[in-house]
Amino acid sequence: MTIDRTVKIAPSILAADFANFGAEIDAVEAQGADWIHVDVMDGHFVPNLSFGPATCAAIRPHIKTVMDVHLMIAPVDPYIDEFAKAGADIITAHVEAGPHIHRTLQAIRAAGAKAGVALNPGTPASAVAHLLDVADMICVMTVNPGFGGQSFIPLEGKVAELRAMIGDRPVHIEVDGGVTPQTAPGLVKAGADVLVAGSAVFKGGSVSDPAPYGENIRAIRASYA
Ligand code: DX5
Ligand code: ZN
Repeated sequence: MTIDRTVKIAPSILAADFANFGAEIDAVEAQGADWIHVDVMDGHFVPNLSFGPATCAAIRPHIKTVMDVHLMIAPVDPYIDEFAKAGADIITAHVEAGPHIHRTLQAIRAAGAKAGVALNPGTPASAVAHLLDVADMICVMTVNPGFGGQSFIPLEGKVAELRAMIGDRPVHIEVDGGVTPQTAPGLVKAGADVLVAGSAVFKGGSVSDPAPYGENIRAIRASYA
C-alpha cells in the first residue's frame, strides 16, 4: 500500500475564533487548507482545556477535507468510540498518555479511524519502534503540548530518524508546534509530510477577511518548494 506523501498543511483550529468554528473551517478550507487539525485538551494530560467530542461532531459537517483529531488527554481508551462517532478521520493519541498505546492504536482502527501516535519533545523516536505496523501516522511534537503560539523546538533529527525507521510503510509523519515559513523547510527536508500550523495560518485574518489565511498557507508552501 502506498500513501500520498505530498506535503499537506493542517491548520489547527486552536488558533481560530472559538465562537465561529464552522465559518473559520469553511474559510480556511476555501483558502487552501489540506486537512483540519483539531486539538482536544483535558486539563490533566496537558495544562489547558479546549473542547471535546460534542464540538468535534458539531464541526464535522464543515470539514470537507480530513478531520485530524489530536487527543491530548489521559486516559484515551474510554473516549475513542465517541471521537470516532463524531466523525474523526484520524485519531492521534500520545505515547505518554498511558501504559497501553499499542492497544489504544488497535482500538482506534477498530473504531473505523486511522490511528496516529504523538511523541512529546522529550520522548525519543525509539518509543514508536514497535508501533509502526499499527499506526497510520506519527506526530512529532515540536512544542510541549498544551498551547498554541509557542516557540519551535528543533527536532528535525528526530523526524529524520523516524523517516528512516518507517521505510516504505504507509505511515505519515506529522509535525505539530511552531511551524512557520522559517521552520517548515527543515522539517519537510527531514521527512515530514503533514505540517500542523495554528498561529502561522490564522494570524492577520478573520472570517470576514479570510484572504490572509490563503497568503499564510501559500507562504508556508513556498518556503519548502
Ligand atoms: C499544541 C497543539 C498544536 C498547536 C499548534 O498543543 O497540539 O496543534 O495548536 O499551534 P502553533 O502552530 O501556533 O504552534
Ligand atoms: Zn495538535
